[in-house]
Amino acid sequence: MNDDHERILAADVLDEADMAAERTLRPRTLDEYVGQREVKANLSVLLAAARGRAEAADHVLLYGPPGLGKTTLATIIARELGVSIRYTSGPAVERAGDLAAVLTSLDERDVLFIDEIHRLNRAVEEILYPAMEDYALDVMIGKGPSARSLRLTLKPFTVVGATTRAGRISGPLRDRFGASYRLDFYDDGDLTAIVERSARLLDVELDRDGARAIARRGRGTPRVVNRLLRRVRDWAQVHGDGRVDAATADTALAALDIDGAGLDGTDRKLLAAIIQKFGSGPVGVAALAAVMSEEIETIEDVYEPFLLRLGFLDRTPQGRIATDAARQHLAGLGFEIPPPRRAEPEQPALWETPAGAAPTAPAEE
Ligand SMILES: Nc1ncnc2c1ncn2[C@@H]1O[C@H](COP(=O)(O)OP(=O)(O)O)[C@@H](O)[C@H]1O
Ligand SMILES: [Mg+2]
Repeated sequence: MNDDHERILAADVLDEADMAAERTLRPRTLDEYVGQREVKANLSVLLAAARGRAEAADHVLLYGPPGLGKTTLATIIARELGVSIRYTSGPAVERAGDLAAVLTSLDERDVLFIDEIHRLNRAVEEILYPAMEDYALDVMIGKGPSARSLRLTLKPFTVVGATTRAGRISGPLRDRFGASYRLDFYDDGDLTAIVERSARLLDVELDRDGARAIARRGRGTPRVVNRLLRRVRDWAQVHGDGRVDAATADTALAALDIDGAGLDGTDRKLLAAIIQKFGSGPVGVAALAAVMSEEIETIEDVYEPFLLRLGFLDRTPQGRIATDAARQHLAGLGFEIPPPRRAEPEQPALWETPAGAAPTAPAEE
């Protein structure tokens, strides 16, 4: 089910409207950046030290699920350093020469932001090692026996790398970052503050309870709460007087098929698949991806982190498990919940769908 474009809870950028809204809402300074206190505290020391020495800052690696503020933070880093920032991404840099061109065009102390840095290819990565370590670029001149390598000196600069999966970054590349920071899901208090800040910027009249109602269903993710806020605002304009309180937010979000735990149809489908088709697990992620018609990476990066955080999903060496909390949540929504396989390892017949009875599909799908 590739309905990502419709999925308003998706943590990645959906469309042009999304991008435009993000440009308006993106915090521009560390002070405006809500939450992530520990990261901010460490980062501000690193930035102050670089400014004090009048040197390029250490290379910084930012990792964590999509929508938590990695690109935002990279932009803030450049701004706080008073330098320019160049944006690129792992998949965008195809050849070593592409990266060399970018590197030679950087000014002293500039920031080079490399999004999805785990997707850089090997040849490109090898250009990056000496560039990050010695501000040096090794270029090959000529071909065949007369070929020789020439070392060019680059101006000092700072790489800010971002990734959703730190584990995918090669050891040598990781070692070249002076600092790495993990962004975590935001708590409800921080998300409420983000909703309130965004509402001010978008001129939406919103009270505290309205902000809380949106924050609670925001999957711990600023990008998601900002999107929910815009949808709730639309609802309030069409069905009310434009003001957003808790009741408006609840009604609007229910109409968008987002349940009380902040799950949408895709989340519920994923959990229901584990519970109904795989006896609540353990099930391997490849099998799950096949049932969902999704990429393994999408399941791991986009769907699972929040379900893990809610305690609805467990990762074990044997595979994914839907927890009792997930089973109860879906049961409360009217899903058929067969007994878990793992509880009765000796009696497979108990959890298998009886012949003739089709697996129950959720009513809304
Ligand atoms: N700490 C924060 N405070 C306020 N808004 C934030 C914060 N982090 C992210 N946002 C909002 O969420 C959106 C997505 O953040 P972004 O940096 O693009 O996430 P990522 O690069 O990790 O996917 C931004 O446009 C911004 O409006
Ligand atoms: Mg980003």
